[in-house]
Amino acid sequence: CNRAWNVVAVYPTSFDKNGKELIPLPKDVAFPAPTLIVEPEQVVRVLIRNRLDEPTTIHWHGLLMEKTGYSDGVPTITQCPIQNNSNFLYEFKANKIPGTHWYHSHYKPQRVDGLYGYIIIKETIEQEGIDLNGNKCPYCVLVSDWYHLPAQELLDKYRCDAQIGAVTPEPVPHSVLLNGIGGGYCGTNNATKPANSCNDKDYDKKNITCVLSNEVYKFQRNKKYRLRILNSGALVLYYFSIDDHDLDVIEVEGMRVKSNKKIKLLPLHAGQRYSVIATTSNTKTDNFWMRLQTSKECIRPNTSAEEWGMLVEEIRAIVSYSITPGTPTTSPWILGKLNCTDLDYSLLSPDKLYLINYDTPLKPPSGPANKEFNFGIYMEIYDEKNKSYLTVGEIYDTAGNRKIYDDNIFGFTNNSIQYTIDNYNKYGSRIYNVYKYQNLNFYVLDKERDVIDVTLKSSDNISHPIHLHGHFFWVMEYTRGPGEPNEIYEKPIQRDTVTVPPKGIVKIRFQVDNPGVWACHCHIEWHVEVGMMAQFVELPAKVTKLSPLNNKIYVDKGKNTVNLTTW
Ligand code: C2O
Ligand code: CU
Repeated sequence: CNRAWNVVAVYPTSFDKNGKELIPLPKDVAFPAPTLIVEPEQVVRVLIRNRLDEPTTIHWHGLLMEKTGYSDGVPTITQCPIQNNSNFLYEFKANKIPGTHWYHSHYKPQRVDGLYGYIIIKETIEQEGIDLNGNKCPYCVLVSDWYHLPAQELLDKYRCDAQIGAVTPEPVPHSVLLNGIGGGYCGTNNATKPANSCNDKDYDKKNITCVLSNEVYKFQRNKKYRLRILNSGALVLYYFSIDDHDLDVIEVEGMRVKSNKKIKLLPLHAGQRYSVIATTSNTKTDNFWMRLQTSKECIRPNTSAEEWGMLVEEIRAIVSYSITPGTPTTSPWILGKLNCTDLDYSLLSPDKLYLINYDTPLKPPSGPANKEFNFGIYMEIYDEKNKSYLTVGEIYDTAGNRKIYDDNIFGFTNNSIQYTIDNYNKYGSRIYNVYKYQNLNFYVLDKERDVIDVTLKSSDNISHPIHLHGHFFWVMEYTRGPGEPNEIYEKPIQRDTVTVPPKGIVKIRFQVDNPGVWACHCHIEWHVEVGMMAQFVELPAKVTKLSPLNNKIYVDKGKNTVNLTTW
């Protein structure tokens, strides 16, 4: 492994005539990982050749993995970790519905170090605002948190720092990346740029709060452009905007939507994706800033600035109508510090977004649900044999009372004792976890077409993006926080990652129709690593192809396989 810095990169592997791997030039090694563009329902095979000095697995976030749950990439739930110097072939059929998805390491906090990229299911129809050109992804906008230390180091410290009675704040990124790059200072005078932008002190000294990416998005006047935006970060909720350009949201995580109102700022939490249409005009201005911004109010509203500690809270790119782009002088939609509490978090109100037809049901299955789960979101420290560790979870009954855990109901809790070899035998999959701190809470959904409601109730004061594998769920109800009204959506949207605001409540619904073992977890990496995770064991009798004890090792250079090597 050549992991000199905390970047895990990926490259498409090529071979000479004799089948020997050609070592790529450093410039061919991609961070972020290469964008994969596939047809709807295409069979995709990706051979991962792991050349890191640690194991890995790859999860295909947003891909339904119908009949291929064993390719879902969650270590010890759907596969064993791919050891270093081993290969593993992922195979699956792409979703029927076009959309913006991504792939990332699901092994420990490796994703935070850079193992992520887009997987896009091609647009097939051309209609107003949805141009096929967007398929090539010249207008992808990938925002990431950037830490100056390897993620495992940060995670170890995070766990160690937790003492009984005191939950420690999550590691906060130093800075932001856009399409993998960030670092130039936003000011106009280059001389004030820190010599070594990796040094926190330099930022501190110069009071630098905004950095530049290298990206220039070249637009022409009076046209429409589809941007595909992804937050691959570990912690932070970002707001995307383009100065002087209103946005139409046309896609939420693979679901086609229309918005009644144009929006100016688009919130994206870790794991979330959107496609927006930016319409250009006849204005005389040539150059505009594209911004991704955050502030502590978006993550931890009531903490002090020091406790928050993110040094750089904004990254910019240039949108230019000119063939010779220049430095924009445009102003942001919101002047001064971004204050998330004043902004719309949810983007869910029926007056904003609704689903439009695309071979998908426009309405959720009707209730009442056959099974209801109440997952609490809570950070707490438990003491187990003199070891303190963070854990997460609280279960409420329907009356809102905290519930005692029992054999059938666990939530986002640390309940590792629930793993037994019996469970393993019973469900034919390896519901087992190598992470000492991660829980194994699983729920069996064994009746086809059952309607499942999950109420996510946060008693925590930071926001949590909750992701469910194997499904797009309907977002049925949303409470922004204490004292706020519970909004019940008549025309809910579907997605796979939903933001539960601080002390908020979100109710989601899905239907039992996809056999597999599906993780459901917070997409804040630090949270999933300390146990904010549950699993749905769906239609276990039909989960036939999980291959629990042996990875399928392929040395396959077939034409239909994308070969990717981790580096
Ligand atoms: Cu994108 Cu289980 O994650
Ligand atoms: Cu969380």
